[in-house]
Amino acid sequence: MPLRTERVRQLTALLPILAVALLAACSGDYPQTTFRPVTEFGAAINDLFTGVFWWTMLVLVAVWTVLIYVVLRYRRRPNQAPPRQTYGSVTAEILWTLGPAVIVAFMAVPTIRTIFFTYREPSPDALVVDAIGHQWWWEFRYPEQGIVTANQFVLPVGREVHIRLSSADVLHNFWIPRIGGKRYNYPVPVQSNVPPSKVNALTFTISEPGEYSGQCAEFCGIAHAIMRKRLLAVSPEEFDAWVESMREPAQQVAAAPAAEQAAQAGEAGEEEAAASPQAAAAPAPESAAAAVPGSLEAQGREIFLRSTCIACHAIAGTPARGAVGPNLTGYGSRWAVGAGARPNTLENVIAWIKDPQDLKPGVLMPGTQTAAPNGFPATGLSDEEVRAVAAYLLSLK
Ligand code: CUA
Repeated sequence: MPLRTERVRQLTALLPILAVALLAACSGDYPQTTFRPVTEFGAAINDLFTGVFWWTMLVLVAVWTVLIYVVLRYRRRPNQAPPRQTYGSVTAEILWTLGPAVIVAFMAVPTIRTIFFTYREPSPDALVVDAIGHQWWWEFRYPEQGIVTANQFVLPVGREVHIRLSSADVLHNFWIPRIGGKRYNYPVPVQSNVPPSKVNALTFTISEPGEYSGQCAEFCGIAHAIMRKRLLAVSPEEFDAWVESMREPAQQVAAAPAAEQAAQAGEAGEEEAAASPQAAAAPAPESAAAAVPGSLEAQGREIFLRSTCIACHAIAGTPARGAVGPNLTGYGSRWAVGAGARPNTLENVIAWIKDPQDLKPGVLMPGTQTAAPNGFPATGLSDEEVRAVAAYLLSLK
């Protein structure tokens, strides 16, 4: 008896520790939580989850109440004869078959309703974006706006968005938890001749501006864990400005326009360019810093454009047209290098260009001295050249 009270005392002392451990789960900022959705799509899934959770809690409490009652009421007592044995009971079997069937049917109704809701047809004026999975990065194409970006993309709040999911190689899975999802990127080319029923899609409207983090949610090879993406949800005006900054200038950038001239063109040319891209007389260069003759960025631009970088990468406003690797237009605004491998700092971009395998094993990009795993030869850039290219890339905003 004293031993038992001692044990009870020990267990009681453990309770506060257990409570602290439990409550720790409620603290902190979780950028990839599903419990704070910012779209009606995410809210529908969260509501379904919460509803089903509480119904299952009800079942749990009911079952445990009966169980505990039976254990106490019919526990073995001293000198008790064995209880009456029962073999087979049609009533019991009907009850324990019907009961769960009713519960499942009860939960199936909101579940199926939510499934249909998340697969609804987009409205005709929805913003269409193609999200294409690649080993191991994300490509985002805006067919109506004529722009392409990678790993980080921008969407307006308050407007319906229709994201068509596809893949350039293997199965990937698009997942930004606060938006909702996740959903597969099948290796189906996103082209107009593919019936919509064959293309997976997500249709949603974002209600809150912010930065939303996501990642690939289907194992897709060695660098699957570093196939992240970031969504910036902004006001419609900011979205239009971003689209304009990502656009191909109507004409080739003059060899060396002054930086302030570039800034003016960016201000004044915006609305004109939106109305008619051909009408923009003096398009902003893709990098104001690189437009300054003799700058490190200008050297980097020149090195980039004469190296093998352009076999795989494109930058709007330059002759670089490669479409195998991530489009680097506006690269300096991105949060990370290598689809989330490291923060997007000068040192990390330099390290990336020199030896990307070191930051992201498996990545299909060559280093300065090492070929890519797919055989693409080393770029052979010197350390000074790498520094200049990195500075140029970070100047692309
Ligand atoms: Cu793509 Cu995992």
